[in-house]
Amino acid sequence: MEKVIDEAKQGTSLVNTQNSKNTKKLYIESYGCQMNFSDSEIVASILHNNGYNTTNQLAEADLVLVNTCSIRDKAEQTVRKRLEKFNAVKRDQPNMKVGVLGCMAERLKSKFLEEEKIVDLVVGPDAYKDIPNLLQEVEDGKNAMNVILSKEETYGDISPVRLQSNGVSAFVSITRGCDNMCTFCVVPFTRGRERSRDPKSILDEVNDLWNKGFKEITLLGQNVDSYLWYGGGLKKDFENASEIQKATAVKFSGLLELVAKAQPKMRIRFSTSNPQDMTLDVIEVMSKYRNICNYIHLPVQSGSDRILKAMNRLHTREEYFNLIDNIRKIIPDCGISQDMIAGFPTETEDDHKDTLSLMKYVKYDFGFMFAYSERPGTLAGRKMEDDVPADVKKRRLQEIIALQQEHSLYRTKQHLGKVEEVLIEKESKKSDAHWSGRNSQNTTVVFPKEDYKIGDYVNVKIIDCTSATLIGEAVGYGELQS
Ligand code: SAH
Ligand code: F3S
Repeated sequence: MEKVIDEAKQGTSLVNTQNSKNTKKLYIESYGCQMNFSDSEIVASILHNNGYNTTNQLAEADLVLVNTCSIRDKAEQTVRKRLEKFNAVKRDQPNMKVGVLGCMAERLKSKFLEEEKIVDLVVGPDAYKDIPNLLQEVEDGKNAMNVILSKEETYGDISPVRLQSNGVSAFVSITRGCDNMCTFCVVPFTRGRERSRDPKSILDEVNDLWNKGFKEITLLGQNVDSYLWYGGGLKKDFENASEIQKATAVKFSGLLELVAKAQPKMRIRFSTSNPQDMTLDVIEVMSKYRNICNYIHLPVQSGSDRILKAMNRLHTREEYFNLIDNIRKIIPDCGISQDMIAGFPTETEDDHKDTLSLMKYVKYDFGFMFAYSERPGTLAGRKMEDDVPADVKKRRLQEIIALQQEHSLYRTKQHLGKVEEVLIEKESKKSDAHWSGRNSQNTTVVFPKEDYKIGDYVNVKIIDCTSATLIGEAVGYGELQS
């Protein structure tokens, strides 16, 4: 997703929300991608209507939920460690119930209940509406589980409780699941087939967020460019849709345009784009609307044609370069970021060099880089030996990271001297005299606070930079300021 968070570092508990009638306390922690954080807001909303307020104090929780990630082995280990901690807490609070949500719940199913005695409840990503019923079973002294994946569920009818929010930017999910079947990836197995959410419910949510004072939204999906609404149903069944459904179908470029027009003062971002599904009409819509940010997260995973093929990424290196060239032609100042995997099975030194040379061509603004982690059940997990030695993977990963750092600095330096519109999100971590926000290209900008406030669009002159941050000073309100 836009910023794939390092799961090992990012277990985040959610802040309080209150409904005075509720008597029970929910503590919910999320790991992994932005979709999980967004899903936790849906879960909190469902439980809010069923007697639970959220708390950020583990010690007072009646119910602890952990929304889990399976993308790499390390992510799963992090959750296992957290469960040990919850176990210790449960010794003092025997009535506390513990539930596991998300991708690990879906992947491990009843094994979770067998392996982790502390777990009372296991719920997969499409079954969150069933949590109140499942909790009833838990109250009756049973373990409870629902890991059924759905063909329809999009949670479009649930208004998420905005937890942990800065009140400025929010996530809006537009698709669930993924049909791409990249051979290394567990997501199609844990999140099921791809389905899109009704554009009307997306627009309602966006308008509601605007009315609540939010200034920026990120449209979320595993593969947003393949968004397709034709009245409901799986993406793969579109061929069998009626002529009317086909004629009135909304693609991602259409949705982006609808959202940009509905709230012209609101910044729009989206994530993630698989290069094989990104089309020129999306880039053209981006360039047409002032409020759609000039930033694309465009994971490539490898620069080697042979490895791309083995990964079932359905584009070549050449086609990727073409896409990059088109983006730069249509949106010259577009920020572009990557995900890379080092040490996919059979990767040779030459394949790795292809990755480095691809990076040199694109010079990404930033990236998220990982050592290959074999996932049980995936095609690569079943058919390919994890044959790149750990030390080789590590060294290749370090080379990729070091090169990315060079490129990040090259990119941030290009902003020096420019005046850029920044949406203020929070106080700078390093100085309470500075604001922190992002420019259109998604790079963090810090500058002295003056009289500006959180949620303002401010034009900032960039005067200094590191490889990750731009430093500047405000020169007035931005064009998007109401
Ligand atoms: N389409 C998704 C991709 C999810 S996974 C999205 O919206 O972000 C995020 C990233 O994790 C992938 O792009 C890939 O670089 C990495 N990843 C996925 N499976 C992996 C594995 N088995 N080992 C190492 N990295 C992996
Ligand atoms: Fe995974 Fe590939 Fe989909 S990385 S989420 S299978 S686009």
